[in-house]
Amino acid sequence: MKKTMTILVTGGAGYIGSHTCVELLEAGFNVVVVDNLFNSKHEAIRRVEQITHQEISFYELDILDKHGLDRVFRSHEIDAVIHFAGLKAVGESCLQPARYYQNNVNGTLVLLEAMHDAGVKKLVFSSSATVYGDPQSVPIREDFPLSATNPYGRTKLMIEDILRDFSTADQLANTPNPWKIALLRYFNPIGSHVSGLIGEDPRDIPNNLMPYVLQVAVGKLSQLSIFGDDYPTHDGTGVRDYIHVVDLAKGHLKALAALNKDFYAEGACRPFNLGTGNGYSVLDMVNTFQQVIGKPVNYKIAPRRSGDIAVCYADPAYAEHALDWRAEKSLADMIVDAWRWQESNPLGYDS
Ligand code: NAD
Ligand code: UFG
Repeated sequence: MKKTMTILVTGGAGYIGSHTCVELLEAGFNVVVVDNLFNSKHEAIRRVEQITHQEISFYELDILDKHGLDRVFRSHEIDAVIHFAGLKAVGESCLQPARYYQNNVNGTLVLLEAMHDAGVKKLVFSSSATVYGDPQSVPIREDFPLSATNPYGRTKLMIEDILRDFSTADQLANTPNPWKIALLRYFNPIGSHVSGLIGEDPRDIPNNLMPYVLQVAVGKLSQLSIFGDDYPTHDGTGVRDYIHVVDLAKGHLKALAALNKDFYAEGACRPFNLGTGNGYSVLDMVNTFQQVIGKPVNYKIAPRRSGDIAVCYADPAYAEHALDWRAEKSLADMIVDAWRWQESNPLGYDS
């Protein structure tokens, strides 16, 4: 009988992690989560269990705690790791760079050491479209030049470099069990599981567009500031590639499957864009929200936000070809599902 695979999910109580846990459990994987709950609540894990009628082995643990990670690897026969755990607020990373390098880069190094010691060398890593900096053209392909404009982005670039170096070293040494790594470069995840039970639950005032729009529409915040209407785009506001978080979550299962395919046989570290290939402006998002949900979103035009780029959207062709994955949900699906979560949980997991 085929053994059920066990996946360790770091940061599994977070926004993307919790949605990925649902997909993993529904696909028949055992799931072990390590999360220090810095930016999440245990309630998210409970809700995942409620949706799937299955249990998660949960450890409230920091990935910087090597002994703790060793214990987790000793307690479960882990087949692969999906690594979400990290700090992700761009503005905060500019004010507290040491914290970001320590948590994201050192945290990943500790995790890699624990994985190496346990002989687990399959990894799916949460990277970001931020590693393309300000791209020269769109759509963005995986072979575009990489750069970063803030400490958060630099942590993602550094981790990508570290993972490429680990993989190259194994290939040079002809290691029998080489690193097999998928770098998933997410574009802009929004939306929620269709149940409305799990979703994005920002700790403070949201930095990102969609949670801000939701909180204005629900009456928690008074007005959205649209950061700039003088970009070289169809209506002057910034264009992004918004992707439904469930499509994104499914991409992780496809990446896990790919690690067992021939093109990973000798070990490799490969990047994949997870985006839809469509770009929508801030005003497109606000207008679509108002049309689909039928609620007004009070907004004003404000100055550009420092560090923002005009346009960012993916060429997802490589992920489609190599992973057999493509985003399926429409912008209306993303907005309806996001609203369902917001409306039924106005205070997030504390509702
Ligand atoms: P999130 O903050 O909701 O989830 C991250 C989880 O990691 C949280 O539950 C947090 O408590 C946990 N965590 C952080 N540091 C930890 C540590 N040292 N030890 C253990 N747990 C720790 O964020 P998310 O939106 O789900 O993002 C997941 C990953 O995807 C992050 O690495 C993020 O940088 C990356 N990413 C997110 C986006 C986005 O727009 N949401 C875009 C690109 C990349
Ligand atoms: N925006 C506003 N008002 C707001 C918030 C955002 O007008 O209150 C605009 C931004 O200027 C931008 C667009 O909405 O044009 C999207 O902004 P987000 O903050 O939602 O997303 P970003 O594209 O700036 O960044 C996100 C994550 C990064 C990640 C990047 C690429 O926050 O961590 O996507 O994956 F690197």
